[in-house]
Amino acid sequence: MGRLEGKTALVTGAFGGIGSAITARFVAEGARVVANDLPGADPRPSDRADGRVVTHLADHTSEPQVMDMMERVRAELGGLDILVNNAFAAFNDTEIATLEEADWDRTLAACLKGPFLCTKHAIPLLKEGGGGSIVSISSVNALRAVSETAYSAAKGGLISMMRLVAADYAEFNIRSNVICPGTIATRASLGYWEQFPAGFDELKRMYPLGRIGEPEDVAQYTLFLASDESRWVTGTVHTIDGGLMGGTKLGIR
Ligand SMILES: NC(=O)c1ccc[n+]([C@@H]2O[C@H](COP(=O)([O-])OP(=O)(O)OC[C@H]3O[C@@H](n4cnc5c(N)ncnc54)[C@H](O)[C@@H]3O)[C@@H](O)[C@H]2O)c1
Repeated sequence: MGRLEGKTALVTGAFGGIGSAITARFVAEGARVVANDLPGADPRPSDRADGRVVTHLADHTSEPQVMDMMERVRAELGGLDILVNNAFAAFNDTEIATLEEADWDRTLAACLKGPFLCTKHAIPLLKEGGGGSIVSISSVNALRAVSETAYSAAKGGLISMMRLVAADYAEFNIRSNVICPGTIATRASLGYWEQFPAGFDELKRMYPLGRIGEPEDVAQYTLFLASDESRWVTGTVHTIDGGLMGGTKLGIR
């Protein structure tokens, strides 16, 4: 029996590197998954894998579109047990002195407003089903200086917001936890670091476990937080980062 048998999950940004790995992992564990991504985005093979994946294209920064999506989840799937706030985008994100206001606004919307709207409109469905689990994908950028001002600020805000969700909705058996991945090999991160090959080499050397992450490394942990195996875990932040935040051996032993 799968670890998510009988559960319905909504994964935002489900056509991306980490989102498609989470979708595939959840389906393999018996869940039905609503795979959300932007209108016009290209589905991955795993998103069409079998009848247990329902694709719903919607912009998670648009409240009417998010409300329509939740209505469809209620009407067609009969409820929701798991929300994964995974979608993101960043726009010309730089150090603060050169960051344009419009790019700040768009990045904050894609990284923080989207999870706000999806969580807001998922809560009634989760309540109706007697509870559930929300897993939000932040970043190590929220915990230490890496790069990208607006993205880092949004990911820090996401931790604060989702911790409060844990406190506010614990009485309804709704859990909320956050994952902060280190560098994961996806189109988004590889595309970003392509511009800075020297910085990328330096970054890779900082990972004590000797490699950057794969989408499946995040999917595996998301599965744990989404499933009943973590039933007494809420309001927490988990770094999935090959040891990056733990620190590096300094060569003195
Ligand atoms: N890849 C990394 O190194 C890394 C590290 C730390 C955290 N993360 C986080 O992991 C998550 C997934 O990142 P990824 O690397 O898989 O990125 P990705 O670009 O491969 O996937 C992101 C997906 O979100 C979708 N999306 C963008 N805007 C949207 C919107 N408005 N509405 C709905 N969908 C939208 C995109 O179309 C895309 O399919 C993000 O939250 C990211 O911040 C990634």
